[in-house]
Amino acid sequence: MKLWQTADSMDARIEAFTIGNDPVLDQELIPFDCMATIAHVTMLQEIGILDADETGKLIAALNDIINLHSSGQFRIQPNQEDGHSAIEEFLTGRLGSAGKKVHTGRSRNDQVLTAIRLFEKFAIEELIQLAKKMADSLQKFALANAGIPLPGYTHTRKAMPFTVKDWAMSFHDALLDDVKLLECTFELIDQNPLGTGAGYGVPLPLNRQTTTDLMGFSRIMENPMYAQNSRGKFESRILNDCLMILYDLNKWASDLIFFTIPDLGYFNLDPTMVTGSSIMPHKKNPDVLELIRASYHQVAGYEYQLKMIPANLISGYHRDLQYTKEPLMKGLKTCRDVLEASLVLLSGLSVNSDNLHSAMTAELLSVQKVMELVNSGMPFRDAYRQISQIYKPDKPAADSEK
Ligand code: ARG
Repeated sequence: MKLWQTADSMDARIEAFTIGNDPVLDQELIPFDCMATIAHVTMLQEIGILDADETGKLIAALNDIINLHSSGQFRIQPNQEDGHSAIEEFLTGRLGSAGKKVHTGRSRNDQVLTAIRLFEKFAIEELIQLAKKMADSLQKFALANAGIPLPGYTHTRKAMPFTVKDWAMSFHDALLDDVKLLECTFELIDQNPLGTGAGYGVPLPLNRQTTTDLMGFSRIMENPMYAQNSRGKFESRILNDCLMILYDLNKWASDLIFFTIPDLGYFNLDPTMVTGSSIMPHKKNPDVLELIRASYHQVAGYEYQLKMIPANLISGYHRDLQYTKEPLMKGLKTCRDVLEASLVLLSGLSVNSDNLHSAMTAELLSVQKVMELVNSGMPFRDAYRQISQIYKPDKPAADSEK
């Protein structure tokens, strides 16, 4: 029986359609939903809705669910509609009327918002740690290869001299900027929506400060309608930050795909991290880099879904919002997986110093030559023209220029 069921049972086909993928997705939210429910029942005792005995038993049962979940033994059944129902059924099955009181003063709409927000805070912290770790590994790679030159490219053609160190540090710096964005988003979403009900508050003297403190939110999300309207908005903000990380790693991957082309051989991927071809026995392919690169586009699609689903809805809860859960979870998982794979790949990345030294051909110094003439007093445009003569296509650089 559904939590909301009062009369007719539901058409099974419509029921399955409305439940959708929730029993699978909510599985991830169970520990966060339980943490929020522990805060909620503690507060219900404070305002006299539950007695100490009921509260103690509810908290013990909720901790049991968390433990069952972590050992893979708490599974939402497809007919239970969602994780919120599964938790309440468990509590009611074990504790009877105390379980039936647990939903006092909340709606599944603020319940799901709260569980998702706790899940997001956890996921963002995890991403910040991983992004910092990647930045740190890039710095170590940069320092380990200091002094090795690298041709800088524009338009995929050699441009000016650069170094392996500065190449790696560019991604270090980029990821630390991304961390700042994540920290800013963390601060934005760190507001407790529990107690806002279905978007219009709850006619009970709930102590929202208590639940805020117990769940570790930095503040109360005061306006109940904004709490509902923030669903989707906050999620797309988070995926936008993921997208910035993936944007940087997309470029990192593209660079490495290029630098590891056998014809160039600037960098080498670890032989245990490349894939082969089923027909061409000589191939060693950088599939991992291609998937890192493609993840940017995948998550851009998820972010787009998050921006589209809530748009045009009038204020307050709508079931449409259920569909924000999947792109959010997929986007966060993709970003985490990409960072983890990148860390592994970087640990096996090596630099082919000989090839890089011989790749530093004379034309890379064209700008330097121009500047030498400028320094001796020649106007820039004259110097540019004079040096350009050396590099005319029909006039290959003399050996002495190399
Ligand atoms: N699965 C729903 C969601 O993610 C939970 C809330 C359902 N609320 C409702 N009034 N039908 O939005």
